[in-house]
Amino acid sequence: MSILSAKNLVKKFGDTTAVDGVSLDIEAGEIFGFLGPNGAGKTTTIRLLTGALSPDDGTIEIFGMRYDDNAIAIKRQIGVVPDEPPSFKNLRGWEFLKFIASIYRCEKDVFHRVDELCELLKIDFLDEYTDEYSHGMKQKLMVVSVLMRRPKILFLDEPTTGLDPFSARALKLLLRKIANEGAAVFLTTHILEIAEKMCDRLGVIVEGKIVAQGTIEQLRSQSGTEGDLEKIFLQLTGTDESEIRKLIDEL
Ligand SMILES: Nc1ncnc2c1ncn2[C@@H]1O[C@H](COP(=O)(O)OP(=O)(O)O)[C@@H](O)[C@H]1O
Ligand SMILES: [Mg+2]
Repeated sequence: MSILSAKNLVKKFGDTTAVDGVSLDIEAGEIFGFLGPNGAGKTTTIRLLTGALSPDDGTIEIFGMRYDDNAIAIKRQIGVVPDEPPSFKNLRGWEFLKFIASIYRCEKDVFHRVDELCELLKIDFLDEYTDEYSHGMKQKLMVVSVLMRRPKILFLDEPTTGLDPFSARALKLLLRKIANEGAAVFLTTHILEIAEKMCDRLGVIVEGKIVAQGTIEQLRSQSGTEGDLEKIFLQLTGTDESEIRKLIDEL
């Protein structure tokens, strides 16, 4: 049974329909990759699924609960690493982690988990103030603040942007372990190599609509394309490579 089920989600901003009838199911133990061009609606979908925005239409059930009735119970079980990690004035990294641990009423052993995660991600800056962190440092802190709680569904919006190659690799291996232990991972990415190597299933969104969903094999047959994910992606998103070449020639 799916632990997250979204049906016909719609979200409008003025005249823009950012999410236009999105339906998704996420299973425990899988890594689901959400792909799409810039502005396709990936971040808006994550914000809907994590309760940061309310949909104009459609339903979301997480562990059989809805945000309207059970927002706090749902939010205790999920974790979100946003694409723009926040910083907190006058708060050092470890103070932020203590704050999150107290809000979520984490057990004392949470700090043992923090130590392990910091060792893995080479985090040695918890004594520094978060408003002096780089994008990648903030992102790593967010990852730790979320993973220390062991959420059952983990949402990450462009998680490797801003991470150095070592940290990106460590994060990828860590996410696979977390999925193998039974949590679901939902991530957005532009990086097709990440989608291809890491994700068990993919959804492709274009202008707010999911145009294909499934394993890479299923996407390949849905797109009617042989070849790698880049070819499949260009086909599914309606990008004609000869058009790109023509425009480049004209530059
Ligand atoms: N808060 C907002 N106010 C107005 N328009 C928004 C807002 N957030 C997103 N949009 C618009 O919705 C569309 C989808 O954006 P987004 O979900 O951020 O796409 P993606 O993450 O796939 O790049 C874009 O056209 C974007 O301009
Ligand atoms: Mg985005």
